[in-house]
Amino acid sequence: MKQIYLHPLPVRIWHWVNAGCFFVLIVTGLQIRYRDLMQLMDFRAAVDVHNFFGFALIINFMLWLVYYLLNGKIRIYIPDLHPARLLRSMVRQARFYGYGIFRGEANPHHPSPDHKFNPMQQMAYLSLMVILLPLQIVSGLLLWDLKGFAVLIGMVGGVKAVSSVHVLLNMFFIAFLYVHIYLTTLGRSPMEHIRAMVTGFEDAEEQTSH
Ligand code: HEM
Repeated sequence: MKQIYLHPLPVRIWHWVNAGCFFVLIVTGLQIRYRDLMQLMDFRAAVDVHNFFGFALIINFMLWLVYYLLNGKIRIYIPDLHPARLLRSMVRQARFYGYGIFRGEANPHHPSPDHKFNPMQQMAYLSLMVILLPLQIVSGLLLWDLKGFAVLIGMVGGVKAVSSVHVLLNMFFIAFLYVHIYLTTLGRSPMEHIRAMVTGFEDAEEQTSH
């Protein structure tokens, strides 16, 4: 076994600030939406906290984007563009998660700093970071200032359409979190990947890492 430095400090800071913002936004978002069913906090306070953490998440997202674009590492998020190869490696990875793992087989993907994600992670993280999170940010910004963005809101179908997108994406993110946290516990020990996202270092077998 050797240790590889998988998660640079800026990525780790981004990740945990992002997770904290997600947690607060989900709780306050539910309080705003279901104010008759939940009494965790006053409605006005929930809106203020939601707005504050929404902007914190946006700034954090911008830092993530600038970091990954400037150092060119964004390519770790880009899947193999050869359709047949991509399909083969996705099937191999899915087979591991759905079958091989229960038979004690080794994970077919061996992460390295330049090839950190398996093809399923690449597809999931890329759509998350490049489509779904930006969409959530834009819909949140529109809802934050209904008057200021009235024209734009009208152009995309009205307040109801925007808030439906925002709420549906929120449901998707909650579902993603279940799967994401479950999958991150599937290392050699349940805490292996989570510890790596804290320290930056992960154990790798000498002969298999590249
Ligand atoms: C308590 C909640 C969370 C835990 C325990 C957790 C855990 C982890 C771990 C262990 C990794 C590294 C292993 C891997 O790449 O799969 C990771 C990566 C990642 N997580 Fe999370 N996560 C959490 C919340 C979130 C949330 C809310 C998001 C929403 C966008 C998220 C998005 C990501 C992304 C995009 C990566 C890849 C980061 C990179 O290396 O560039 N995570 N997470």
